[in-house]
Parts: sequence; structure tokens; C-alpha cells
Amino acid sequence: MTDARTLTIDADGVDPAAVPQRVLASGARMPAIGLGTFGSDHVSPAEVAAAVVGAAAVGYRHFDCAAVYGNEALIGEALAQVMALGIPRDALWVTSKLWNDRHASADVAPAFEQSLRDLGLGYLDLYLVHWPVPNHHATGVGVEWRDSNARPYIHERFMATWRELEKLVDRGLVRHIGTSNMTIPKLELVLRDARIRPAVNEMELHPHFQQPELFAYVRAHGMEAIGFSPIGSPARPERDRTPDDSVDVEDPVIVRIARRLGVHPAVVCVKWAVQRGQTPIPFSTKRSNYLANLRATVEDPLTDAEMAEIAGIDRNCRLIKGQVFLWKPGQRWEDLWDLDGTITPP
Ligand SMILES: NC(=O)c1ccc[n+]([C@@H]2O[C@H](COP(=O)([O-])OP(=O)(O)OC[C@H]3O[C@@H](n4cnc5c(N)ncnc54)[C@H](OP(=O)(O)O)[C@@H]3O)[C@@H](O)[C@H]2O)c1
Repeated sequence: MTDARTLTIDADGVDPAAVPQRVLASGARMPAIGLGTFGSDHVSPAEVAAAVVGAAAVGYRHFDCAAVYGNEALIGEALAQVMALGIPRDALWVTSKLWNDRHASADVAPAFEQSLRDLGLGYLDLYLVHWPVPNHHATGVGVEWRDSNARPYIHERFMATWRELEKLVDRGLVRHIGTSNMTIPKLELVLRDARIRPAVNEMELHPHFQQPELFAYVRAHGMEAIGFSPIGSPARPERDRTPDDSVDVEDPVIVRIARRLGVHPAVVCVKWAVQRGQTPIPFSTKRSNYLANLRATVEDPLTDAEMAEIAGIDRNCRLIKGQVFLWKPGQRWEDLWDLDGTITPP
């Protein structure tokens, strides 16, 4: 019998059944690569939505969305088209995220329901708390900008938000809930106090920022690691760059492996991510690029020696530093990341 899920794949696409899957603690299967949908300020919502349709047609089934990306309504139209083409809802994995200005208990369900309506779905597969710190981040502000309402991580407040996410699971509106941009000391507390544990932690992961301790911690505690900016976000806006940032796709090791395989260095980053065991969500609106990223998961694996070589090029280079979420004057971005193993005091 023909699988309805493969009916609409382009001739040069990838059978979704061949794409590696992550089996979550719940037993659910999540495709081990997703399409990122953050167009930032250089790709319009319409272009991102068109990429969602095109990506589904080449075999993507996993889409990483968020309210703050400002394009969920158009992505909802794209998903409706995808389903009209014959791809059933249960063959898709759709994630959204609660933005930082909707952490108050009374705001969580309305924010979630807005995303659900915009995405045109009856349930989400995964809903994340986008950042563990409440604040309001106006679109396009520079890294020096500070929000007078920004607050540090206060565990009791985070758990109040989390309990609202748990209720969404109870109501059958979301299958899994998770965290993003967390640290080990914060996750320790959440895992201690959650009734429904986070199924995943979404975190920055690319060859120059491998976060080995957090990555190992997440997996050892039964969560999957979804890796954002897997290519090192080469098109991020100037305001999100600092002079120390390094460029993954220019690393000599990545470039040499890309030459061996005859692919763009971005594809090597994706291969490394999937083979290491994380779930990358590369962004692209170019068919040739998002197709190459998906093909990366099913053909020409990196050798063990290449995997070991890439493990050796970690530079601990965080690109998405979160400066605009700092909550008092005189702080450094490092204060968001609990570098000494304890939560930075308020
Ligand atoms: N949870 C969070 O806080 C968080 C934070 C940041 C990002 N994210 C998620 O992660 C996703 C990805 O991160 P990102 O957008 O920052 O960066 P990224 O995926 O590391 O990099 C995207 C860039 O790489 C280029 N690219 C992609 N595939 C390529 C290929 N095969 N060959 C050559 N170039 C390629 C794209 O250019 P073209 O468009 O020209 O192909 C695009 O400019 C976001 O869209 C979002 O969904 C989540």
C-alpha cells in the first residue's frame, strides 16, 4: 500500500520515512531535522511561508515556529496548503514558542491559543518557553537597548508559567512542552518541580558552540536537544554580531570536509548535528539549500574521524547572547548564562 505521507514528494526530494527520527520520552517520533522559520529582518513572512510549502514538498515534516517571528498566520496558510496536498496532520511536527512578554499566568493560554489559531491547527506537537526570562523585546532594537520591565530568572515565576503549559497538555492542545535557552542550574530546578517534564530543550548548537556539558545533561535527563542556528546563523543582523564571533562555515575543518563531499560547508554543519544526536533546525528559503540540508541527513555520512575532528573545533562561541534581556545596568551578557554553575542572583 502506498503511504499517503510520501504522495507529494518532489522527484528530487527525500522520503520522510528515510529521515532519521528522535524518539522522545513519550514514545513520539520527531524528525531529526526541522525547518527554521525566523526570517529576522531580511526575509519576509511570505517568503518564509513559501519555504514551508516548498520544504514540505521536498520531504520536511518538522517546522520550528514562534509567535515572535511574526509570521505564524502566513505559516498557518502554508500548512493548510501542505495538508490539502495530502500530507496528514499527524505526519507533521509543529513547534511554537511563548514569547517573553506573555509569561504571566493569565497570558499563557491566550498566547498559545493565538499561535494555534494563526497556525490553523487543532493541536501543537511542541510548545516551548522561548526564553526563561520575562521582558519585552521590541523588534529590531540594538544590543545596547534595555527593557525597564526585564526581570531575571525567578524560579517560582517560571514554574507558574510552566504550570500553565502543563494545563495545555492536560487540555489536549499540545503533545509536548519544553524549554529553550536554559542552563543546567535552571533545568535542575525545573526537572525537580515540574509535573510534566520538558520533552526537549532548544539550545544554540553549531560546530563552534557545541555546549558539551548542557548537551550531555539534556540527553541524560531524557530530553531531546533541538539545535538552533546550526549553521552559525551567517545572515544574522549586524546588531547581533560582536568582534569575537567566529564563522563556522569558514572553519578549515568544515571547509575541507565540504570539499571532500562536494557540498556547501553549511551541509557539513547539518550532518554533524544529526550524527551527533541533536535535531538541527536550519533556516533557508532557498530550495536548493533547504533541500541540501534535508539530503544531508540521509546520504554521505561523516566518518568517525571527521566527527572527532569537528568535536575538536569547538570555540565556545555563543552567537545569540541575549544582551537585550539583561535586567539591570552594568551587566554582561554572560550573566544570562550561569557560567559559574549557579543561577545569577537577581
Ligand atoms: N529558540 C531560540 O531562541 C532560537 C534562536 C535562534 C534561532 N532559532 C530557530 O533556529 C532557526 C535557525 O537558526 P538561524 O536562522 O539563526 O541560523 P542558521 O540556520 O544557522 O543559518 C541560516 C542561514 O544559513 C544559510 N543556509 C542554510 N542552509 C544553507 C545551505 N545548505 N547552503 C548555504 N547556506 C545555507 C541561510 O541562507 P539562505 O536563506 O540564503 O539559504 C541562512 O542565511 C531559526 O530560523 C529559528 O527557527 C531559535
